[in-house]
Amino acid sequence: TVVIAGALLLAYLTGSIPFSLILGRLVGGIDLREHGSKNVGATNVTRLLGWRWGAIALLLDALKGLAPTLLIPKQVEGWTTSSHLAVGCGVAAILGHMFSCFLKFKGGKGVATSLGVVSVLAPLGALAALGTFIVLFAWKRIVSLGSIAAAAVFAAVQMFVLSPNPFGGSKLSLALFSLAVPGLVIFRHRANIGRLLRGEEKALRPAGGGPG
Ligand code: G3P
Repeated sequence: TVVIAGALLLAYLTGSIPFSLILGRLVGGIDLREHGSKNVGATNVTRLLGWRWGAIALLLDALKGLAPTLLIPKQVEGWTTSSHLAVGCGVAAILGHMFSCFLKFKGGKGVATSLGVVSVLAPLGALAALGTFIVLFAWKRIVSLGSIAAAAVFAAVQMFVLSPNPFGGSKLSLALFSLAVPGLVIFRHRANIGRLLRGEEKALRPAGGGPG
């Protein structure tokens, strides 16, 4: 039990590292929480610092989800249902990003970190989500719309396409994850959803121009 608690804590702490905020400070000398959408995420880094730093923020935030989900369970020897532990570590990392202990338990919307986690736990669902995001973003150029749709498609694909019995046996934790995490990601976008409904959500305009 101590080992499992330690594993989850380590995953949470990794997820809590606010890479986007750090990049904003180091590269732009700004506090992301006071500019643009005020979100500590790769989209806001792109908006304020340009594509290049946005891509780096996306990569780092995805890695802090991917690494603990992939690596921590492997270290816990004798833990037979390691897939449950992997799901737990993934959730802990995502919660770390959203409710970071380094940001007074505030944080981002969890899109990049979740992408890193699901690429380990559910690669096919991750591909479906990524495809959805790319299509919607290419069409509308609105990141939040792509993120929300990707989260919904991930849950639907996991539930209805990839598993005939999503709650069966050893898959219970992944099934719960596949509903709860997209739900949480969409809930974190509630301000964006309000803007989308009012027609006020803007297309992404990265600092410094570039593609788009
Ligand atoms: O990853 C967050 C994205 O979906 C929306 O970000 O900054 O436009 O609220 P933002």
